[in-house]
Amino acid sequence: MKSIAVLGAAGKVGQLMLKELSRMDAKAEVQAYGRDEKPSHCDIAILCTDDPVSEVLAKELKDKAGFIIDMSAKFRNDPAVPLVIPEINADTITKDTRLIASPNCTTTGLVMALNPLKKKYTLKEVFFCSYQAISGGGKKLIEDFNTEGSLYQANCVPLIGSIQPSGFTSEELKGINETRKILRLPDIKVRPHTVRVPVMVSHSLGVTLRAEQDFDMNGIQDLFASQSGVICDGKIYTPKEVAGKDEVFISRIRRDYEDKNILHFWITFDNLLKGAALNGRQIAQYLLENF
Ligand SMILES: NC(=O)c1ccc[n+]([C@@H]2O[C@H](COP(=O)([O-])OP(=O)(O)OC[C@H]3O[C@@H](n4cnc5c(N)ncnc54)[C@H](OP(=O)(O)O)[C@@H]3O)[C@@H](O)[C@H]2O)c1
Repeated sequence: MKSIAVLGAAGKVGQLMLKELSRMDAKAEVQAYGRDEKPSHCDIAILCTDDPVSEVLAKELKDKAGFIIDMSAKFRNDPAVPLVIPEINADTITKDTRLIASPNCTTTGLVMALNPLKKKYTLKEVFFCSYQAISGGGKKLIEDFNTEGSLYQANCVPLIGSIQPSGFTSEELKGINETRKILRLPDIKVRPHTVRVPVMVSHSLGVTLRAEQDFDMNGIQDLFASQSGVICDGKIYTPKEVAGKDEVFISRIRRDYEDKNILHFWITFDNLLKGAALNGRQIAQYLLENF
């Protein structure tokens, strides 16, 4: 039987990762590791830790784990490391791959929506404003939110991550770089604005997309829904009702009132599931089934 080690297992993503692995089709023995604990050997190590911890653990486990799946941002921009959403680009994992990165949660929802459109349209530019849940900031932010007088209560905070020299935040740069890498569209313009909102679970994005061609509104709903893992059925979805669900939900689709090559829509999905633990579990399942 194959073995899977979950490191950072007491964290928000780690806890859900254990739950996800317990409902995985491919059977494997799963072991949870807390702070300062490591496996001596495993087939797959899943790092549910922050960037600096993942960097150290990936080095330490290099010869001890067959594959490493990292949930942090540490390796996502490394050209040698596949950044994987299995429904979109599992083919970037090869027999020589040892380390795989799972993408940023907000980016995951965005690319799940853009990927089916990419098959019919030349995507040129995407603007988005995110409405990101408190649980996206892990245990520390949840604790802060539950403290009286927290800045995050009954408020919107337009700062996620740290401000970079360009004026964009580290979170916004993830949206740019990871979208280009996952969709294999190095030239697509991504114009992000990320905001933390007082919602406990599920991120949302208001999206404006420009393509080279006019958008054909006949069948646009079906085109979105053709992506495995996406629900687009004409209903309007809110973060509260999609918390705990596996899929990415798309609604409010409309063509621009002046430009036919501009489309507006709304995305909402569980940041801890498809945005993190579910995607990590799907990568592990793909590895078990294919290598
Ligand atoms: N939350 C999300 O929606 C989301 C989505 C996508 C990706 N991610 C990424 O997933 C990773 C985990 O996020 P999270 O939200 O679960 O954060 P979290 O709740 O803060 O959990 C982090 C875990 O790492 C553990 N840890 C800290 N130092 C460690 C060390 N030296 N060795 C081993 N474990 C150590 C912590 O242990 P203690 O319990 O002892 O503090 C904690 O359990 C982050 O890189 C995050 O960016 C998160």
